[in-house]
Amino acid sequence: MVHTILVTGSNGQLGKSLCALAEKDQKNQWVFCSRQDLDITNRENIEQIFVEHQPTHCINCAAFTNVRLAEKELDNARRINVDGVDNLIEACNNFDTTLVHLSTDYVFDGEKSSPYTEDDEVNPLNVYGKTKAAGEALVAQRAKKGYIVRSSWVYAEKHGQNFYRSILAKAKTGKQLEVINDQTGTPTSTSELAHYLLRLIGQSPSYGIYHFAGDKIQTWFSFAKDILAVHGLGVEVMPVATAKDELRRPLYSPLISIKPLNNEL
Ligand SMILES: NC(=O)c1ccc[n+]([C@@H]2O[C@H](COP(=O)([O-])OP(=O)(O)OC[C@H]3O[C@@H](n4cnc5c(N)ncnc54)[C@H](OP(=O)(O)O)[C@@H]3O)[C@@H](O)[C@H]2O)c1
Repeated sequence: MVHTILVTGSNGQLGKSLCALAEKDQKNQWVFCSRQDLDITNRENIEQIFVEHQPTHCINCAAFTNVRLAEKELDNARRINVDGVDNLIEACNNFDTTLVHLSTDYVFDGEKSSPYTEDDEVNPLNVYGKTKAAGEALVAQRAKKGYIVRSSWVYAEKHGQNFYRSILAKAKTGKQLEVINDQTGTPTSTSELAHYLLRLIGQSPSYGIYHFAGDKIQTWFSFAKDILAVHGLGVEVMPVATAKDELRRPLYSPLISIKPLNNEL
């Protein structure tokens, strides 16, 4: 069956990886909308795009993702991560579209000592996590056809601003690196996450929450060492503790799925 998949926030890390995947996908039609094409806080703009393209699926990659800035720009973060999601739910319900909404490990408090599953309770610590949890709750309550896909420590190797690329850039200066060793998560490649989203759409399991993350539990420090090893860079890396400031983060937030999909597209 041919799906028409609309991607919001297509200029972001995940949006660009979905774009690369779509170029090789012979089965589905794709519509990519950057913030300039479709602002999820603008209901008329959404309506116009849905009328034009009649999407069967909408993958929502649009989000306010700057964790530190969200503390200062609460209203803006809420407008995008909560109200914007509400607008998309409305359109998806009106057009019988399946919503695939991206969320984050930051909805958890990090107090667990084993990876978080889809069944664990959320308890966000900061503004970003709280707005993402509120967006999730709307999808769970209101979307007629809704998936919430949580991922963690997302990075694209080839584009965007992320940990992977900033470690490589800093390493190329040849200076010693200091990397945090007291936060633990599951780094996830956007390219693998993009493939997962396409599998989810193809396999259409029951609606609800799904976790997809890399299978290696790491600190930023161990992840940095892996990145340098893959690129054959022999730069020295020093483990350091998270700086003490007002921003609260989950110190332990690996994700695991108890609802795995099969590997077929
Ligand atoms: N990055 C991570 O480590 C991580 C981890 C777990 C989950 N996630 C989730 O995964 C999803 C994708 O993340 P990402 O890393 O690809 O984020 P990203 O690179 O920050 O991309 C987000 C995109 O959303 C756009 N956007 C912001 N406000 C918008 C609006 N009102 N209307 C339409 N587009 C808007 C941004 O455009 P501008 O650049 O023009 O603002 C940007 O292109 C998000 O839901 C995020 O919460 C991310």
